[in-house]
Amino acid sequence: MSTYTVTDTKKVTTKRIKDMMQAGEKIAMLTSYDYTMASLVDQAGIDIILVGDSASNVMQGNQTTIPITIDDMIVYGRTVARAAKRAMVIVDMPFGTYQGDPIEAQRNAVRIMRETGADGVKLEGGREMRGAIEMILRAGIPVMGHLGLTPQSINKFGTYATRATGEAEALRLMSDARVLEEVGCFAVVLEKIPALLAAKVTEAIHVPTIGIGAGPGTDGQVLVAHDMLGLNTAFKPKFLRLYNNLGEQIVDSVGNYISDVKRGDFPNENEQY
Ligand code: KIV
Repeated sequence: MSTYTVTDTKKVTTKRIKDMMQAGEKIAMLTSYDYTMASLVDQAGIDIILVGDSASNVMQGNQTTIPITIDDMIVYGRTVARAAKRAMVIVDMPFGTYQGDPIEAQRNAVRIMRETGADGVKLEGGREMRGAIEMILRAGIPVMGHLGLTPQSINKFGTYATRATGEAEALRLMSDARVLEEVGCFAVVLEKIPALLAAKVTEAIHVPTIGIGAGPGTDGQVLVAHDMLGLNTAFKPKFLRLYNNLGEQIVDSVGNYISDVKRGDFPNENEQY
């Protein structure tokens, strides 16, 4: 039994996200990449579903988020948008689709919106993304920013360790957050940074911050659904809370099915015509 009761069926919008922040109501976001998972997550009452480029790891078995393409993201995004009745759906812009020419960034964001039916896009980076964000916003597309550990830059960082632990990087992150606010992002993800810094950024800017591995001081939280449900047992970072062990349950259930088939116990007389 869930301990949360959904109180309304009204579609979540950027305005509602801002209202939640202003009312002090925490924003709950989870990833989904397919219709079935998104339907369940939406039914549970999640505020935002992120079609994250973590699909590269979770759905495609890649080591990083670099290989996933815009065509892949559009397929995942479309199935999720079809499922989400209440939740706002945000699709990650994949690596290489927005870091260059802002006009191309806008073209790619327009394509994602048109071909998926999502409610907005997310992209990684700070001040260097200003031009791209401005152009995407000019097309009327809501943009969620993403600072701290930005996995598309893993080859530059060389590590998935906590970001902005030193003063210079923390100051830069704070000023990037202000740039994202000023340029018009409706929310900013803060990934794997010290809790104190995340709380300071949240205090300093007037758009919602959504943390992952960034402590309790942000306006909302996001996790990868496959991780928190225990479907992806290989990934157990300190910040992850496990809400289930679905991976184990699936292996057990499949094992039971195999032994029923092997023993000739499935199907029985009630399971045939
Ligand atoms: O791709 C993703 O799932 C993300 C979240 C971890 C924030 O960007």
